[in-house]
Amino acid sequence: MSSTDSPSPSLSRAMVQLRVNGVSRSVALDPDRHLLYVLREELGLTGTKYGCGEGECGACTVLVDGVAVRACQTRIGEAAGRSVTTIEGLAGEKGPHPVQQAFIDAGAFQCGFCTPGMVVAAAALLSRKPRPSDPEVRAALDGNLCRCGGYLRILDAVQRASQRLREAGESTR
Ligand code: FES
Ligand code: FES
Repeated sequence: MSSTDSPSPSLSRAMVQLRVNGVSRSVALDPDRHLLYVLREELGLTGTKYGCGEGECGACTVLVDGVAVRACQTRIGEAAGRSVTTIEGLAGEKGPHPVQQAFIDAGAFQCGFCTPGMVVAAAALLSRKPRPSDPEVRAALDGNLCRCGGYLRILDAVQRASQRLREAGESTR
């Protein structure tokens, strides 16, 4: 192919659309690029953490159409046309998400590195199961590792959030 036959870089890069925290974003469709790097490096959403990069630690957990996924294992093409929520997008206009507030109230973090992934995974659990048992919380967060070992407080925080969400639901009935 002669140089005149080569497509310009701008034309050769297909773009994909996705919604991130409620905002429509257009990013390059690179088949080898994962959602984690797009969020952190292109969109500046560094609340989602890079832990292992291999799907083992849960630090990069985000919601895709409300389901908790590992952003380091989600190719950007898989997120096309979907709604992505990161830790930055969980809070509402009235303040922190109930899970975020419960983590604060329970003191459920030390270094905080695992916290965004934990909070997002817990929010996903409570949205599908508002009243989880302790074993169900443990199972849902089994893939989220805390190197500070704060699991008991994290469990407490998730149960506090569950109660808070139920009370909020009851007060609006
Ligand atoms: S960074 Fe994605 S699971 Fe560890
Ligand atoms: S609070 Fe430090 S890794 Fe969990």
